[in-house]
Amino acid sequence: MDTKTKYLGLEIESPIVVGSCGLTSDINNLVKMEQAGAGAVVIKSVFEEQIIYDIKRNLSMMAPTDNYGMSYEYVASHVSDDSLGKHFELIKEAKSRLHIPVVGSINCYSFENWMTYTQRFQEAGCDALELNMAILPYEPSLSYEDVDRLFSNIINTLRKSVNIPVSIKVSQNFTDMANFMQRLSWMNINGITMFNKALNIDIDIDKMELTHAPSLSNPEDIYDTLRWVAILSKKLRCDISASTGVHSAADVVKMLLAGAGTVQVVSCLYKNGVDYLRTLNDGLRQWMEEKGFDSLSQFRGKMAVKSNDEASMFFRTQFMKHFAQI
Ligand SMILES: Cc1cc2nc3c(=O)[nH]c(=O)nc-3n(C[C@H](O)[C@H](O)[C@H](O)COP(=O)(O)O)c2cc1C
Repeated sequence: MDTKTKYLGLEIESPIVVGSCGLTSDINNLVKMEQAGAGAVVIKSVFEEQIIYDIKRNLSMMAPTDNYGMSYEYVASHVSDDSLGKHFELIKEAKSRLHIPVVGSINCYSFENWMTYTQRFQEAGCDALELNMAILPYEPSLSYEDVDRLFSNIINTLRKSVNIPVSIKVSQNFTDMANFMQRLSWMNINGITMFNKALNIDIDIDKMELTHAPSLSNPEDIYDTLRWVAILSKKLRCDISASTGVHSAADVVKMLLAGAGTVQVVSCLYKNGVDYLRTLNDGLRQWMEEKGFDSLSQFRGKMAVKSNDEASMFFRTQFMKHFAQI
């Protein structure tokens, strides 16, 4: 039974990848993940805001007589080196102790920092990079053309400065999802991770304060990702790593049948522990054995919308079968 596959062009033993989260910021967890059969690990993202916050905190501790203007650049580069340095130490240690690919993850909002951080991640030795491009189209003044331009500027420029595989992690907030994902896949990237789960806000009505909704996903959260993977897997020029709502071995199988190259898991590890990766891998192998499959390629994409089929007609047919019993 062979569960070998490729992720961003890298050979991996299992299609189950641990997605970026707090668990992947700890070297002991990373070692356990490899032992439990993770195909690869995506390290917790570096967020530009975190570094800017550290810089501001350091500046605020300076004596008021200090000349902020003169010191800003010095403090900024020192603090940013220090914050990123801790992160790069983790990557270096992970690279020295693990055999599976170690993928760095970055989330920036300024164009310059996307460039600076990406190059530094490559220098730190990670095998690939996931760009957590949470560009949220929440401003009424931002048109879909603006969002499009932002993505393509960042990707095209980054592509010139790094030569390790690059994957783009996206949210579900796009007007023209199918069209945009296809155009992204033509932009010389190696993969798309779909989707990041948005951290939703909630409101505490007693205190009348903003709070946040639970951050972990539930099994029923799989359906949006599953649908888009099935629609797009045969229409993109790069691999899909399916993320959000994968909680069981059956979910892993579904994503592969829909055409995902790999499947990322996070919430199910928070809920069941890192060792749950064994259950997922065992369940995948057991299903393959029952169905008589020796490799993933024998069934991957079998339930995807075919490359020349119209997805809208495919889904309309399913809808009519269910509701109109045609
Ligand atoms: C506690 C927590 C921390 C996370 N941190 C990050 C992060 O730093 N970068 C990132 O790209 N995604 C992050 N995510 C999102 C996950 O990588 C993943 O896309 C999302 O949780 C959906 O997958 P799941 O249903 O398997 O949880 C985080 C998720 C959780 C629950």
